[in-house]
Amino acid sequence: MEVAAAVIAWALSSTCRNLPASNNLWGLCPQQDLTTALHQRLSASAQIFLPGSDGYAQATTRWSVRDAPSFNIVVVPSVENDVVETVKYANSQNIPFLAVNGGHGAITTVGKLQGGIEIWLDHLSSVEISHDGTTAKIGGGTLSKVATDSLWAQGKQTVTGVCECTSVLGPGLGGGHGFLQGRYGLISDQFVSMNIVLANGDFQTIDKDSDLWWAMQGAGHNFGIVTSVTSKIYDVTHPDWAYASFVFTGDKVENLYGAINNHLLKNGTQPVDVINYSFFFNNPLLDPDNPLIMFFILQEGAGAVDPVYAEPFNILGPLTTDAASGTYTDLAAWTGNSIGAPPCQKSGLVNLRFPIDLQTYNVAAQRKVYDLFASATRTTPALNGSLFLFEGYSLQGVKAIPNDQTAFPNRGANLLVSPLLTYAPNTPALDQTAADLGESLRQILYEGSGLKELHTYVNYAFGDETEKNWYGHEQWRRDRLKTLKQKYDPFGRFNFYAPIM
Ligand SMILES: Cc1cc2nc3c(=O)[nH]c(=O)nc-3n(C[C@H](O)[C@H](O)[C@H](O)COP(=O)(O)OP(=O)(O)OC[C@H]3O[C@@H](n4cnc5c(N)ncnc54)[C@H](O)[C@@H]3O)c2cc1C
Ligand SMILES: *[C@@H]1O[C@H](CO)[C@@H](O)[C@H](O)[C@H]1NC(C)=O
Ligand SMILES: *[C@@H]1O[C@H](CO)[C@@H](O)[C@H](O)[C@H]1NC(C)=O
Ligand SMILES: *[C@@H]1O[C@H](CO)[C@@H](O)[C@H](O)[C@H]1NC(C)=O
Repeated sequence: MEVAAAVIAWALSSTCRNLPASNNLWGLCPQQDLTTALHQRLSASAQIFLPGSDGYAQATTRWSVRDAPSFNIVVVPSVENDVVETVKYANSQNIPFLAVNGGHGAITTVGKLQGGIEIWLDHLSSVEISHDGTTAKIGGGTLSKVATDSLWAQGKQTVTGVCECTSVLGPGLGGGHGFLQGRYGLISDQFVSMNIVLANGDFQTIDKDSDLWWAMQGAGHNFGIVTSVTSKIYDVTHPDWAYASFVFTGDKVENLYGAINNHLLKNGTQPVDVINYSFFFNNPLLDPDNPLIMFFILQEGAGAVDPVYAEPFNILGPLTTDAASGTYTDLAAWTGNSIGAPPCQKSGLVNLRFPIDLQTYNVAAQRKVYDLFASATRTTPALNGSLFLFEGYSLQGVKAIPNDQTAFPNRGANLLVSPLLTYAPNTPALDQTAADLGESLRQILYEGSGLKELHTYVNYAFGDETEKNWYGHEQWRRDRLKTLKQKYDPFGRFNFYAPIM
């Protein structure tokens, strides 16, 4: 502690020397009061990082660099109480703060936090299975891969996001989609109890008996910092999975999405053990002129995807096909979502999504968005690394829970669809072009859907959507959220990630 304090003091004084006058750590340099005061409240192994250090760089590097929050200091809690102390201290100084986990939260609203304290949950990573084997206590900063691999080693599994590098709670507090949702429901449907630090720094253990519980399952980012969660876990009963993948050229758009509707989606009644997933992408080696479509069928409990599912797509004449079998833990790599895959890298790019929930594919609208994606990524080559994602998870577990039971607003949706516009930061004009393209693509699908309400999954949201889009259109939902917000976060300390205002 002594040594650490000395190191911090040194780091601060050197940081202070290097800071421009306009940015002097809330006017406290060179007194070092802030860091010292904070440090004294934390446990011996908690860490503090200041700008300019490697630790700071690692803690603050984000998946999408647009509208990034900025921090004058990073606290890395080592025990749950370090979060309590940090929140209380930040409040006493009136400094804004944000919990950061896997760093993949890209919604532009987080950019409103400037000059605050980042609470990096990275060291609150743990998975402890209960004696009876039906639940696990998962640390608030545990990444998906850590949770999945730790459980798998003991013959267990639970719902996580498909991406190995996002946390369990970042996705989970907004619902959280994953490969096992057809069996068990959303990530948040697994929650049994949680330890939470509230806006005023109070530390509570809450469960279904708390009025806050409903909100934590879908709108949780607005109400506290979860330092650990106890979630349901399950015996692995179907370890085997298989995939078949197909690459189609753009002339197959109508046939492909028509076949998905007819043979897989079936108005949201596709089999619980089948998942499909497709995206548009550019690859000049395969097609120099137009985007291609990658289509996956994933099947649980199978050594190969059943021809009943694969054959309707083989007969469409794919450019290439592939297939393999393995276990549940291979799914992230197969679909390009593993730790080493491009979506997990924080390589200084802007990543914007424009999500929309759909019930079925409107084949004519699929053609329109394909054509627009093709022409826009040709006209603006800076955007040609973009994808357009069409996620068709199985749904039984999600739909089995009544829609009013949690704050997750749209259990009836069948498809999670989103352009993902990716580019190296450049000019405001390019930002505008990308945002306009994303909005146009979403609007085409919305108009084609015939839906009366636009639902935009909060964890994929761009940031310009409304609270109705994120949290549901029913008045009672919004009243309930606002009442809870007034009670638990009256000063809006958790107003940076899709805020309820
Ligand atoms: C490549 C990729 C794949 C994805 N796949 C999926 C998927 O399969 N399913 C899915 O549902 N979503 C998925 N998402 C979206 C994902 O849910 C969001 O991007 C989410 O914000 C990522 O969480 P994170 O911990 O990585 O991000 P962070 O930026 O660290 O966290 C996001 C926000 O969550 C809040 N937060 C994080 N941890 C806590 C905590 N312990 N307590 C309170 N608040 C907290 C903070 O407000 C923070 O700003 C994916 C995103 C990407 C980039
Ligand atoms: C894809 O998933 C959707 C949504 O679950 C489903 O309706 C559709 O039938 C599936 N298609 C295939 C080919 O699996
Ligand atoms: C599709 O499902 C919805 C709700 O599940 C139902 O109301 C609708 O009638 C179904 N449509 C068809 C064509 O089966
Ligand atoms: C994107 O455009 C650049 C410049 O025209 C080109 O070199 C590159 O191959 C393109 N990449 C893709 C994936 O289309």
